[in-house]
Amino acid sequence: MSKGRVLITGGAGFIGSHTADELLAAGYEVRLLDNLTPPVHDGSGTWPAWLPKEAERILGDVRNADDWRKALRGVDAVVHLAAYQDLLPNFSQFFHVNSVGTSLLYEIIVADKLPIRKVVVASSQFVYGEGRYQCEKDGEVFPDGRDPQRLAKGFWEPVCPVCGGAIKPLPLLETHANPKNQYSIAKYSQELMAVALGRNYGIPSVALRYSIVQGPRQSYRNAYSGVLRVFTLSNLAGRAAPVFEDGGQLRDYVNVGDVARANRLALENDAANYQVFNAGGGRGYTVIEFAGIVAETAIATLPPGVTGEYRVGDTRHSVSDIAKLQRLGWQPTKSPRDSVREYIEWIRGENVDRDYAAEALAALRQSGALRKAR
Ligand SMILES: NC(=O)c1ccc[n+]([C@@H]2O[C@H](COP(=O)([O-])OP(=O)(O)OC[C@H]3O[C@@H](n4cnc5c(N)ncnc54)[C@H](O)[C@@H]3O)[C@@H](O)[C@H]2O)c1
Repeated sequence: MSKGRVLITGGAGFIGSHTADELLAAGYEVRLLDNLTPPVHDGSGTWPAWLPKEAERILGDVRNADDWRKALRGVDAVVHLAAYQDLLPNFSQFFHVNSVGTSLLYEIIVADKLPIRKVVVASSQFVYGEGRYQCEKDGEVFPDGRDPQRLAKGFWEPVCPVCGGAIKPLPLLETHANPKNQYSIAKYSQELMAVALGRNYGIPSVALRYSIVQGPRQSYRNAYSGVLRVFTLSNLAGRAAPVFEDGGQLRDYVNVGDVARANRLALENDAANYQVFNAGGGRGYTVIEFAGIVAETAIATLPPGVTGEYRVGDTRHSVSDIAKLQRLGWQPTKSPRDSVREYIEWIRGENVDRDYAAEALAALRQSGALRKAR
């Protein structure tokens, strides 16, 4: 017997397709809403071949109220993953898709009195901004983004906002947020809506702040962000993986299967309602260390290359504390090495028809989103 029907927006995407597999295996009926947008998709309007046959598909846009109405008909719960991502300077699109899309979801649930039992909204570790640090002199501090003038000179580490001295990164806790770019501001607006509008109107809602998610089916066409795809595509094209800054940035990486399980847990566990949770890998790796794992697995001919470039609005160190989600019974099960192996096995079987990594880097440089320190 079905456990109910779940609408997954962005269901043709990376996390959406794995979440569909997870929910179907657990006995749910699944409906996917996606506009199959480039650069994630190829622009032909074709649904990816790996999507489960049992999942119902609706071609539609989360900016369109009629598409929402069609997609929400007969649905018990929503996993809202559709989003505009990356750091290109078309600022308004982040808010049209991510913020307005989410507000429309709540607006329609309220207006049409839909009996939705749960909404799970995808947020991001990016909402932390520069995050949480320890200063020997001033204790716990929250630097307010890195100084563009220091970045332009290649000083990568943030400094204590009180004394200007050296600081050490601490794990990121859900109680904090300080989004500093168009993507993270829009993502934060989504989680604020989920928790506040959800509570105000009695629509149980949960926001998950994913760390960097990795695994098969992550669109290689959209190589504007995501170290795994950029490093892998570069290595497979015979180039060194381009490592920004000095490669000393700390990040945590979580496997997409673990994220799909986190989505299901958020869907099923009422103790999660009206709360925000980190879903991360539980351990930090430097970007250069991670590039080394990719190079080894892809059998790259060149070691990773530090470019000295930096992404405007990027953060230096981001490692999430996952204790809160662990207390609900979730645990990451796969290492970055597992994710890299799974991704490379998958991409070797794909017909990658262009040098998407080189094209994306050129576009980022041209738009001014990627700059070189001097
Ligand atoms: N992948 C990560 O590392 C990561 C990390 C943190 C948060 N997230 C969040 O997780 C969610 C899913 O990310 P993903 O990695 O699967 O991305 P993805 O790009 O693979 O999937 C997103 C899907 O949304 C669809 N989409 C985009 N705009 C749409 C619109 N206007 N209407 C309908 N569909 C639309 C795309 O066609 C795509 O299939 C996003 O909300 C993202 O912000 C992802």
